[in-house]
Amino acid sequence: MPIKNVIGLGIETSCDDTSVSIVKNGRDVLSLKTFSQVKLHSTFQGVVPEIASRNHLLKINGLIEDALGQSNTSWKDLSYLAVTNKPGLIGSLIVGLQTAKAISLARDIDLIGINHLAAHIHAPFLRYDRWQGPPFPTKKFLALLISGGSTALIGYESPDSLHLFGSTRDDAAGESFDKIAKLLNLGYPGGPIIESLAARSSFLKGRSLKEVPLPPILRDSPKSDLSFSFSGIKTAVYYLMKSIGDISKNKKKNGMLFDKTDIAFSLQFRITELLQRNISRLLEKYRSYIKSDIISDNFVLGGGVAANKYIRENLQKTVEKFGMSLMAPPGILCTDNGAMVASCGYYLWEKGNKSEINLEAYSRPEWASLPGKNQNFLMKA
Ligand code: KG4
Repeated sequence: MPIKNVIGLGIETSCDDTSVSIVKNGRDVLSLKTFSQVKLHSTFQGVVPEIASRNHLLKINGLIEDALGQSNTSWKDLSYLAVTNKPGLIGSLIVGLQTAKAISLARDIDLIGINHLAAHIHAPFLRYDRWQGPPFPTKKFLALLISGGSTALIGYESPDSLHLFGSTRDDAAGESFDKIAKLLNLGYPGGPIIESLAARSSFLKGRSLKEVPLPPILRDSPKSDLSFSFSGIKTAVYYLMKSIGDISKNKKKNGMLFDKTDIAFSLQFRITELLQRNISRLLEKYRSYIKSDIISDNFVLGGGVAANKYIRENLQKTVEKFGMSLMAPPGILCTDNGAMVASCGYYLWEKGNKSEINLEAYSRPEWASLPGKNQNFLMKA
């Protein structure tokens, strides 16, 4: 039986967003205060770690006070403090972690270290503003995390037990949007800019998807391969741009007219195609586990790139083919936020899983099992 009326505070500083939230029962967001550093990093068209950690330090105390004030919560109301301690930029993680440790000691509140990847997976199940997420699945489930730092097919067992089915060999999906946007001189962050450019493309008027000028990603990988790769498409965009530049003013290549919107569309299409293919491969392989109720028929999507409507719509179509439904958070909860961290903390706290005060920050994630070794996840009830 879940313990009711448990209030927790979540702190997220793994990258460039400083975010603090007060959440009740792991689900109801009482307040969410975030300082986005996008403007500070946009000059460099990417996150500068030193700038990120310095600004976390400047903002975090004020955000905590605001989150407590807005939710009418006092320190004594809090059962736990959840803080992202992995993975992420180490300097950024340390700011959140040290802040949480200091509060935990001073106010005698339980401290809980959170895996940022597990936190993203909790986002669709929050209730925030007009978003009324469904209850958290009671069964184990499969998820795709697509963010600026990670691209991973995950089996979720609990916030401290994530199984990896496939991940990126190089850049993360969001990172590739950002790097390609930089290459095309579009601005930062690249994902939303590329999505809106792609939406304006008229590429498909009179042309078919077979004519997309960028090659499919990992075209020849064997069916058992669930890995991703995004650095090759970046190089392909570079050479496409170069050839367009050489072709003169009318931007004609192989008899086709192109502009930046068409390149954005082609890129978004190829990235989505790879995500769809690997999800299909995973679901095909484990179809019997879904049917036999070992795995929930909710497929969860999380991370900043999950805000992309084209990607969401297409992934929805993919999972539907397997009788599953896609659970994705609203745009505002796709990006890094303290509410998803507090939600994870609730499920750990409930089980009595507290962290010690010497909890450390880690730049890398931790997996309960790695690709090809996932039998535990699949077999356990
Ligand atoms: O999850 P997030 O806020 O930070 C990390 O934990 O990495 O994700 C940020 C990433 C950036 O790379 C950004 O370009 C990407 O998410 N992103 C998008 C969209 N909105 C944000 N990518 C594609 N389409 C979008 N609409």
